[in-house]
Amino acid sequence: MDIAKAKIEVERLRGEIDRHNRLYYVEAKPVISDFEFDKLLERLIGLEKEFPGLVTPDSPSQRVGGEITKIFPSVVHREPMLSLANTYSIDEVADFFRRVEKLVEAEGGRTPEFVAELKFDGVAISLLYRDGVLVRGATRGDGSSGDDITANLRTIPTIPLGIPVSAGPLFGAQGSEVEVRGEVFMRKEDFEKLNEDRPEEDQFANPRNATAGTLKLQDSTEVARRRMSFVAYYIKGLDDQSMPHIDRLRRLDAMGFMTGRNYRLCKGIDDIAEFIGTWSEKRWKLPYETDGVVLKLNDVTLWDRLGATAKSPRWAIAYKYPAQQARTVLKDVVFQVGRLGTITPVAELKPVKLAGSTVSRSTLHNFDEIERLGVRVGDHVMIEKSGEVIPKVVSVVLEDRPSNTKPIDVPEVCPECGTALVRPEGEVSWYCPDESGCPAQKKGRILHFASRTAMDIRNLGDSLVDQLVRRGVVGDPGDLYRLDREQLESLERMGEKSAQNLLDALAESRKRGYERLLYALGIRHVGRATARELAHACPSIERLREAAEEELAAVPDIGPVIARSIRDYFGKPWVLEMLGKLEEAGLPFEAAEQKALVNRNFEGLSVIFTGGLERHDRQAASELVLERGGRVVTAVSKKTGLVVAGSEAGSKLDKALKLGVRVISEDEFEAML
Ligand code: IVH
Repeated sequence: MDIAKAKIEVERLRGEIDRHNRLYYVEAKPVISDFEFDKLLERLIGLEKEFPGLVTPDSPSQRVGGEITKIFPSVVHREPMLSLANTYSIDEVADFFRRVEKLVEAEGGRTPEFVAELKFDGVAISLLYRDGVLVRGATRGDGSSGDDITANLRTIPTIPLGIPVSAGPLFGAQGSEVEVRGEVFMRKEDFEKLNEDRPEEDQFANPRNATAGTLKLQDSTEVARRRMSFVAYYIKGLDDQSMPHIDRLRRLDAMGFMTGRNYRLCKGIDDIAEFIGTWSEKRWKLPYETDGVVLKLNDVTLWDRLGATAKSPRWAIAYKYPAQQARTVLKDVVFQVGRLGTITPVAELKPVKLAGSTVSRSTLHNFDEIERLGVRVGDHVMIEKSGEVIPKVVSVVLEDRPSNTKPIDVPEVCPECGTALVRPEGEVSWYCPDESGCPAQKKGRILHFASRTAMDIRNLGDSLVDQLVRRGVVGDPGDLYRLDREQLESLERMGEKSAQNLLDALAESRKRGYERLLYALGIRHVGRATARELAHACPSIERLREAAEEELAAVPDIGPVIARSIRDYFGKPWVLEMLGKLEEAGLPFEAAEQKALVNRNFEGLSVIFTGGLERHDRQAASELVLERGGRVVTAVSKKTGLVVAGSEAGSKLDKALKLGVRVISEDEFEAML
């Protein structure tokens, strides 16, 4: 194919992909399968690889991530990103309404109209489009300046990378700047999937925390994997400066943004009350969390005239729905021992209905939490559920405290093995220190190893593991592979058939691959995403065992805490013993061979790109290096093999020259390929 034909095809594919993206994410009415969609994207990426000159910043290929940001630069907002004042009752909303009414009348206006929108529970973001192309995305930060997280935001399918030309006449002349503000959030389904991938000790408490954590990741490939969404609720830079807010929302829709489309124009306080009432129940059926309603004056020309207090505008307000609470009795507290030895106090409650389900247990997290609540066994307590998350005890009904309540003391010894508990300095949790002997920890480790997302050993359920550990037949995952038919058949409720099934499942599990094994080991803080990163950085257990703490900490999104945890792990005698058994059993101690290389012209070289390249975008250039045996890094050091300097290369070039690192031009780079 020649470049002219390729250009036409690339543009056609982009149009198609953008359209299907929108049908899938915004309209929720996909017309092609995921497979067909992936094929379109693959074809586009293939063509862009072949013709790197055709890559544009608004191509859907730019959403897959790949860029690593070590430090997010700080950016100053065009105008401050304000917050909203909160109200908690219709009376307070009515006060707000009358207040604005007076102000508007004083300005000579008529009875104000308000747009009611849902309040999305996520992280506020500002997007800047120059000539219709997304050039910058930033967090709110302190309101006047935030972090530039463009690379991460690009991966979000509902953030348009460009505003289509057909929307061109909608905003100012050439060189125009449009700012769109909105909320990045995680749909409930995507949130649950994400938590499934994470170790129990690092679960996100709610979609908002998960969103905030994800936006700060250095590796945009991981951000892309986590599936976030964006809803737009504000635009500045339109031709028509006096266009009412409701029309602006419609305009955002037309431009390809998602607005949720659940906004409504309210002519008075009755309309507002009705909107709030309708959504107080209906919101549970939405695929994402909303914690309230936002009311904005529809007449935008009055916004500036009404102005703002230090924190929030006078022309808008938020109404927050009361949390879903129920009252019940704390019957008892039991102590669970996790696979890492953590002691978790669990509340046993008198069963009670809450937000559509019956609750009889809830976590109390740790003993600091018990102390903070001042709760005792026998107390009447309030429990709360936010969204889909597990219910928690939020307060004690002190005025109704019965006379016979009992304090909840930290147990002195492990409820499972009797070892004295410890609390490491600086931690809130108590632990059972007998890692190698405590049956609860052994059991937890084996169950984690066998779980669906780890080695996926079917037929190895809770009661079987319990039996195996209790009888001393299995002490760690390595022992599983030493089980024989006879041993299994002698167990309770285990016939010939089920013994064979388990042996087959164990044999099958040997094929899961290195990455899965790393996760299955259950190293503290190493979830599936971290295991993936680790597998890349250290493609064998041996490499991982030998890696220095600093080396591990330098891997994107690993950092000092995880690095420390990995080093600690490999220092434990029982771990080494278990690894011996796993290796003997033939588990994958090495990553499978990587894709075949195009050639070895960059073998052993770490390469840095700096400045603007003419014919390649960064990602495509990086791939060219990887396919030829090299590595791409971002920081210049003495170990850097090669710097490819484009136009206006800055500090990295200076540093490379100072350190005597070899510097080449884009032409020379191409010749080397
Ligand atoms: S308007 C000056 N509209 O809630 C007005 N905010 O509590 C700025 N939020 O910082 C915000 N949904 O992060 C607006 N439909 C919506 C919203 C919304 C969620 C967030 C936003 C804001 C915070 C204020």
